[in-house]
Order: sequence, then C-alpha cells, then structure tokens
Amino acid sequence: MELVKSIYPEIPADRYKLLVQQMKVLLEGETDWVANLANASALLNGALPNINWVGFYRLVNGELLLGPFQGKTACIHIPFGKGVCGTAAAKNKTQVVEDVHRFEGHIACDSDSASELVIPLCVKDKVVGVLDIDSPVLNRFSDEDARALEEIAELISAGCEWS
Ligand code: SME
Repeated sequence: MELVKSIYPEIPADRYKLLVQQMKVLLEGETDWVANLANASALLNGALPNINWVGFYRLVNGELLLGPFQGKTACIHIPFGKGVCGTAAAKNKTQVVEDVHRFEGHIACDSDSASELVIPLCVKDKVVGVLDIDSPVLNRFSDEDARALEEIAELISAGCEWS
C-alpha cells in the first residue's frame, strides 16, 4: 500500500516540468554548493521513481570527490576517467548505462544498482563535477530522462559558486 502519495505527475514530461520549476525555486537566492547540492539530491530523490542513489561528485584536485547525496554510503574518491562517473567527467559527456555489470570499470557502491545515468556539471565548458543517479532496474534511464536531467544539471551548475 502506498502510504505517502507522490505529488509528481505520472507522465515523465509533466513530472520533469514540475521538477525544473522546483529546482529553480530552490536555487533562488543561494549559490553555496553544499546547500544547493544537498537540496537538489533530496528533491531528485523524492521525484524520481525507481532509483536507489542520487547525488554529486565534485572535481577536486584532479579527481572526483563525493558530495551531497541520498542513498547508501558511497565511495569517496573516483579517479578522473574511471568508472561511469569518471568517464562522464573525462569525456564531458552524459553516460547512460543500461546495465552497469556490462560497463567495463564500473565502480559498484550499492550492489542493488543495475543501471546508471551520469551527467557532467559544467561551467563555461569546464567540468566541475557530475550528477550521478543509480537505479535497481535495468535500462531505467531513457533519452527523455537524460535530456530533462541535463537541463536540471545545467541549472545546478549555473546556480552554484564552485570555488
Ligand atoms: N557507479 C559509479 C560510482 C559511484 S556510485 O554509483 C554512487 C561509477 O562507476 O562511477
């Protein structure tokens, strides 16, 4: 039985429309990355069905360092170019992984994860971090999810002071 009803529409396009509006409101008037990434991970965790981890890694001293997230404890350091996150950062390109067990070099943090979406966070074409979302469902992330979450990642990148 569903005890807490989701406020989000079932149709992904409608869900993402609301999510973008909410993200804009949350980012208004604050540029602190800890505050904004903490709220962004909580917002995404409440809005996206069938995920088991959502959060951020920041590029610090040439490697990815764990930032605010929702989910089980995760690896703290990811080398640039390694795993799904490091690959997204090194290539500055969204990674949609249908089956993490088929992705060479995938770094397993939560054994429940079956598919993954990683989106680079960029400021003036420079990667400052990544948004990482894991799902226990194979092939969870569609192109529509990737494009909509890229829009949200852009809002977050532009809305934070990264130094
Ligand atoms: N699976 C990621 C590591 C981060 S966790 O999923 C939170 C990767 O391969 O980079």
